[in-house]
Amino acid sequence: SECVSLSPMMEAVPAPPESERVCVFGTGDLGRSLGLRLLQAGYGVVFGSRRPHSSSSLLPHGAQVLGHAAAAQSAHLIFIAVQREHYDFLVPLANQLKGKVLVDLSNNLKKNQYPEANAEYLQSLVPGAEVVKGFNTLSAWSLQNGPSDANRQVYICGESVEAKQAVIAVAIKLGFSALDRGFLSVARELEDFPLQLFPQWRLPLRIAIGLSAAFFFYLLIRDIIYAYVTQSKDISFRIMVSLANKVCPIVSLIMLSLCYLPGVLASFLQLYRGTKYRRFPDWLDRWMLCRKQLGLLALGFAFLHVLYTLIIPIRYYVWFKATERTVSMIRENRTTQFDMTTAWRGDSYLSLGILGFGLYVLLGITSLPSVSNALSWREFSFIQSKLGHLTLLLCTAHTYLYGWNRFLSSSTYKWYTPPGYMLCLVLPSVVLLLKLLLITPCVDRTITRIRQGWERGADQ
Ligand code: HEM
Repeated sequence: SECVSLSPMMEAVPAPPESERVCVFGTGDLGRSLGLRLLQAGYGVVFGSRRPHSSSSLLPHGAQVLGHAAAAQSAHLIFIAVQREHYDFLVPLANQLKGKVLVDLSNNLKKNQYPEANAEYLQSLVPGAEVVKGFNTLSAWSLQNGPSDANRQVYICGESVEAKQAVIAVAIKLGFSALDRGFLSVARELEDFPLQLFPQWRLPLRIAIGLSAAFFFYLLIRDIIYAYVTQSKDISFRIMVSLANKVCPIVSLIMLSLCYLPGVLASFLQLYRGTKYRRFPDWLDRWMLCRKQLGLLALGFAFLHVLYTLIIPIRYYVWFKATERTVSMIRENRTTQFDMTTAWRGDSYLSLGILGFGLYVLLGITSLPSVSNALSWREFSFIQSKLGHLTLLLCTAHTYLYGWNRFLSSSTYKWYTPPGYMLCLVLPSVVLLLKLLLITPCVDRTITRIRQGWERGADQ
C-alpha cells in the first residue's frame, strides 16, 4: 500500500516541469470539454481553429488558440474532435502532422455508415502520422463531470505502441482507466460501441414485454371478458390492480426461473458430453450472459407485486365487499366459524412470499458491480447459485400454497383454461426438479469431477 510521507523530504521534491502541451482540433462541445479537462489535469492546451480570433471567446480560460498549422507544430499529441466529413482540412497539413500522434475521437450516427472506420480513413488521409482511436465512448457531458460522476473506462486502439502509450498516459492523468484493444482494425468495433443502446438489456426487456402482454390478454379474457359474457357483469375496473397484481408476479416468477434454467441446462450438457472442454452452443452462452439483467427485471416485477399487494386493504372494492358481507351477516343474524386451515394457509403463503422477496432483494443487491466486487468468487457464487435456487423455491412454494386446492376444482378452469398462476408454475417447477436431480449425490459427484477436468472415456 502507498503511504504519504510528511517528513522534511517533501521540501526536496523538484518543482513540476514545464507543463506538457497537447493540441485539440475542433472547438465544438466535445473539443471544449476535453480542453477544459486537460487544463484541469495540468496540461497546456492549444486549440487549432480555422478562425482563431473569432473562436477564442468560447474556449476554456487558459487555453491558447492558433491556426491549424501553428497549433499542430506546437504539440506532439493532437486530439481530433472534428466530424469525419470535415477531415479533408488535414490533408494540406501533412507536413506539420508527420510523426505526430493523432487521436481520433469521432463517432458515427449509425453502423456501417462508411466503408472503413473513421480512424482508418484518417490514417489514410495522413499516412505520416500515428493514428490512435480512443475516448470516443465518452460524451462531452462525462468529460465535463469528471470521473467521480461518469464512466471511467476508455478504449483505445492503434498500430504504434509508443503512440498508444502516450495516449494512455494522458487518459490516466485525466482520471480514466484505459484499455488497449489492439490494432487500428478494431477501430470500427470501438466506433460501434456508443451506438449500442443497452445491449445486454435488449433480450431480457423483450422477454419481459412479451410475457407481460401475453399474460395481460390471457387474464383479460379469463377474468374480465368471461364475467361479462357468462354473467353480464362489468368488472373492468379490476384491470388496474387485480390484473396488474397477477401479471407482475407471474412475469417475475417466469423470469426468475429463466435465470436459473440455462445453468441447469449447461450442467446437463456437460453431463451428457462427459467433458467441460467443449464450448456451449451460442444461444446458451448468450442466454447465460444476460442472466443478471433477467434477474434485475424480475426483481422489478416482484417489487411491483409487493406494492400492489400492500395496497389491497385500502382499495374501495375490498372495503365495499367486506362491509357488505358484515352488514348481511348482521341482518341475517349469521356467524362464521374460525377456519384454522385457511388461517395457516394464508399466513404460510404470505410468509413464504416475504422470505422469497427478501432473498430476491439480496440477490439483486449482490449483482451490482460495486457489491459483487467486494465479494470473493466463492461468496458470489454461493449467493447467486445456492440462495438463488432457494429464492426460486420459496417463490414457487408461495404460489403453490396460494393455489392450494383450487388446482383440483373444475370451476377454476374457466373456458377450459388454467389460471395464470398455474401456467407460471410450469417453468419454475421444471427448473427446480432438474436442479434436484443435479444435487443428488451420484450426479453431483460426476458433475464435480467434470468441472475439475475429468473426461469420460479418458481414463482408459
Ligand atoms: C400472489 C403476497 C412476494 C409470486 C400473491 C397474493 C398475495 C401475495 C396477497 C394473492 C394476490 C391476489 O389475491 O390476487 C405476496 C407478498 C410478498 C409476495 C406479501 C412479499 C412481500 C412474491 C414473490 C413472488 C410472488 C417474490 C415471485 C415472483 C406470486 C404469484 C402469485 C402471487 C405468482 C399468483 C398471482 C395470481 O393471482 O395469478 N402474493 N407475495 N409473490 N404471488 Fe406473491
